[in-house]
Amino acid sequence: VEPQHVIDARAFDRATLEELFLQAEALEKLPAADRSALLTGKIIATLFFEPSTRTRLSFESAILRLGGGVISAASAKEFSSASKGETIEDTVRIVSEYADLIVLRHFESGAGARAASVSTVPVVSAGDGPDQHPTQALLDLFTMKRELGHIDGLRIALVGDLANGRTVRSLAYLLANYRDVKLVFVAPEVVRMKRDVAEFLTRHGVSFAEESDLEKAAREVDVIYQTRIQKERFGERLEDYERATGRYVINADVLGAMKRASIVMHPLPRNDEIRPEVDLDPRAAYFRQAKNGVLIRMALLVKLLRD
Ligand code: CP
Repeated sequence: VEPQHVIDARAFDRATLEELFLQAEALEKLPAADRSALLTGKIIATLFFEPSTRTRLSFESAILRLGGGVISAASAKEFSSASKGETIEDTVRIVSEYADLIVLRHFESGAGARAASVSTVPVVSAGDGPDQHPTQALLDLFTMKRELGHIDGLRIALVGDLANGRTVRSLAYLLANYRDVKLVFVAPEVVRMKRDVAEFLTRHGVSFAEESDLEKAAREVDVIYQTRIQKERFGERLEDYERATGRYVINADVLGAMKRASIVMHPLPRNDEIRPEVDLDPRAAYFRQAKNGVLIRMALLVKLLRD
């Protein structure tokens, strides 16, 4: 049997998403003693070639809560044999003999697919260069459903670095599974949403528009999904970074424009694109969103390793 990989959010259908959300909620309610028997004897490798706080530690927390074991290369670019010139294919060929599943974050788009092409165990992308971050999108949708009760019909503003933000790409793909979702893109000129995602949304009948006025968008939407300008993706183009950073900031004025029953999300980490005073508003959902990462990753691991 071919291993089931999680590399591309476009592979998820609505039924699978709903099943994962139900499983995540069931796992939350399960007594810890029962939960900790679910992955007994399983070993999961976390290979991170880029820095991470939430994704790696929430995966590792999910594994440990389910009774599994973790082997980890947290700074794999420097401290795995990649630093001696080993290819991702060779690394994954070896590690897939040591573990039952590999969680992989890599700085190059396409590394997840290259890893999956040689792995004998499931490969779960934890971020694939500027391309995709499918498990972040799973926890983002799960958060919308928990916070607002539904996903169909939501109006969602995607704000910030839409060109380099892998979370917004995966999120846009997953949202295409839902009815009557409307997206508003609020991005500095140099980091507008890329054409391939816009074309995907058009093919799947998802309506979207670009808006340059953040307060105007804030008045109309149920979710503001803010993102960081990804300085590390600009290379030598620091002038473009300077043009983009600080352009769209969630502050008291934006909160004032938002509906009472709306939320602010952010995949985190943040820089200054959400002012600290916003944290005190009950509509600030981003810390609850990060917490949901453990639940949805537990649900995903159970699906991949037990179903
Ligand atoms: N949201 C996210 O991927 O955070 P980390 O980079 O800390 O994993």
